Amino acid sequence: MDYLFPKDPILPWSTLFSLTKQTILPSPIPTHPTSYWFLARNALYQGLKALRLQPGDEVLVPAYHCNTLVEPIIQFGLKVVFYNIRRDCHVDVEHLESKIHTKTKAIVMIHYFGFPQTVAPYLNLTKHHGLYLIEDCAHVLVGEDDGIPLGSMGDISVFSWRKFLPIKDGGMLVINNSNITADLLEENSNNFTQAKVAINLFEQLLADHVPSFQKLTVRVFNTLSSAYKAIIRLGESSPQHLPASYDSPSFQIGSVNQGMSKISKYLLRRINLTSIIEKRYFNAAYLLDTINKGALPGVIPFFKEFSPGMCPWVVPVLVPGRTNFHILLRSKGVPAFTWGGVIHPSLNLHNYPDGKFLYDNLILLPIHQGMNEKDMNSMITTMKDLL
Ligand SMILES: Cc1ncc(COP(=O)(O)O)c(C=O)c1O
Repeated sequence: MDYLFPKDPILPWSTLFSLTKQTILPSPIPTHPTSYWFLARNALYQGLKALRLQPGDEVLVPAYHCNTLVEPIIQFGLKVVFYNIRRDCHVDVEHLESKIHTKTKAIVMIHYFGFPQTVAPYLNLTKHHGLYLIEDCAHVLVGEDDGIPLGSMGDISVFSWRKFLPIKDGGMLVINNSNITADLLEENSNNFTQAKVAINLFEQLLADHVPSFQKLTVRVFNTLSSAYKAIIRLGESSPQHLPASYDSPSFQIGSVNQGMSKISKYLLRRINLTSIIEKRYFNAAYLLDTINKGALPGVIPFFKEFSPGMCPWVVPVLVPGRTNFHILLRSKGVPAFTWGGVIHPSLNLHNYPDGKFLYDNLILLPIHQGMNEKDMNSMITTMKDLL
């Protein structure tokens, strides 16, 4: 039987019932105005509002992205213009500058997979041309570029807590430019969404913690929860209850004002972020070290080193000559993936061979805090066997 890899980080019972909590919700940029949204895509939409962009304005977006970043910009009424990201995942400055025109109002940059981009070339361009910089930190828990915290350099920045933590929803908007004042109305998630979040979280807790002899109880619970979800779906079909779904790569304009759920805020104040950062860094360094020692011939780490203080979301690697190696890995239970399935349909990859290269070849390996040394070694052995 294949090894059972933990797909997502586990939520410890101790966190759920922790009496120690932060008095305010945490933020990597605690001194700047911060708001908490259901997903990072909502946060981005709210950020566009704060920047007071107007329909028809142009926003420059990297041609290597996740479509959940592109859709809010389009649905805001803005025109997305793509710019080239080189095969090393860094910006092609000349190409980016060639795309700046009179209607251009903002540039989006991404710190891919938690690895800091050099922000200086972006800041040079935005200052020179009078544009806004939108710093996409959806893959960042913490990190810095040249000693400056990621997420503090763009006029606005967005984060996605749920990508790192055992919570089902949670995005964040930070406004760094003190000239931007925004009155953003954060709505509480409706009862249907709160119920859905609670059920999914409870299911996750059962799956993570309940030993196999209690699986029957789980089955009974699952049957009940399916019935309840069906009722919720009925409720959601009325327009005032448009769903805010974290399972879907789409952007739902109807729920764009939904804040982070109460459950996720409760957990965010109790989760030990330091230990998560340390564990992810440790797992990523362990994998890199294994590859550098030659234990996985044919696997090339995409980023050769990790800068101090960063926390990778995943570890990207190249496996030349092995098309769809991630699918092989998935067939063995390793939750590896590429971004091949999240390309925005408006991006014509014929014009962006570097983007195509990255979508086709960059394999993203899990290193989350729920993986212990045994899980890491099993992933390494599985890769070795498949190679
Ligand atoms: C670069 C980037 N930006 C934004 C998002 C949106 O994050 P969320 O799923 O929290 O809306 C994603 C999601 O994967 C992403 O990869």
